[in-house]
Amino acid sequence: MISLKGKDFLCLGDFGQDEIYQILAKATELKRLHRLGKSIRLLEGKSVALVFEKPSTRTRVSFEAGITQLGAYPIVLYGRDLQLGRGETIEDTGQVLSRYVDAIVVRTFKHGDLETLAEASSVPIINGLTDDFHPCQALADFLTILEKKDRLAGLKLAYVGDGNNVCHSLISGASHIGLNISVAVPSGYEPKAWVVKKAESVLRNINHKIYVTNDPKEAVSRADIVYTDVWTSMGREEEANKRRKIFLPYQVNGDLLSLAKLDALVMHCLPAHRGEEITEEVMKSSNCVVFDQAENRMHTQKALLSLLIGD
Ligand code: CP
Ligand code: NVA
Repeated sequence: MISLKGKDFLCLGDFGQDEIYQILAKATELKRLHRLGKSIRLLEGKSVALVFEKPSTRTRVSFEAGITQLGAYPIVLYGRDLQLGRGETIEDTGQVLSRYVDAIVVRTFKHGDLETLAEASSVPIINGLTDDFHPCQALADFLTILEKKDRLAGLKLAYVGDGNNVCHSLISGASHIGLNISVAVPSGYEPKAWVVKKAESVLRNINHKIYVTNDPKEAVSRADIVYTDVWTSMGREEEANKRRKIFLPYQVNGDLLSLAKLDALVMHCLPAHRGEEITEEVMKSSNCVVFDQAENRMHTQKALLSLLIGD
């Protein structure tokens, strides 16, 4: 088993197949124990800082609850309350927080800022979402697929919508675990070429594919999983009206879903905007597993923390 102790968790592309499966296996075990009401205080006496420069419901609460279940102490900090907002450098902030806590979870804008923080910090930095990646979300998504379909490799996931941070993390992780991805996005909203290229460099075999198209029907055809996310990510609010028009043909509705396999899972990282990227009908369908995804955020993050900072 590869030790993850002391590592940063910035991007799923930096973690290989064995490491991803190790986190998922640990999450399954912690979820089982939690459901049995058993104690999982693996991080007794530790503390974890949670820094938010963008809003959050799931990330904040799932980390806070999970850290508490592990017997550790969460310290939630909003960017506006830190001296960062008054000119203290990211490097100094990282060095100082490293003297107090055992890990730092950060939700911010520029991915480069997270890398700078990781460079300066002596404790693990965990990406709680940047403009480029959302790896904690992808971990929870993979656990959800594994629970529902009993495997990941060889399945087809169709991602429909914006080639954003969530899309990037699904692509980066899928390349390591053998999940095929078809991404359907409007022209000009493709996932970043370097993310796709890096993922393609670790594809597992000739049948393993990452495919990007502008045709949602082609992407969803015979898919095992249909995944969507908001059309306007945090930080791009001024583009919302323009995006609503451009993205309308990419709505996950009953018609589009009928092209996927009958038992296809419908996934969304949430928050969902019903009537935009997904319809109420699809959200209510028995195929929809979005709340299982949300729950699994907590279990996968507990697994991640216990592997990064546990004894
Ligand atoms: N999916 C997700 O990260 O949700 P929050 O923005 O509520 O944390
Ligand atoms: N792509 C979305 C994800 C929210 C969890 C955003 O960045 O706002």
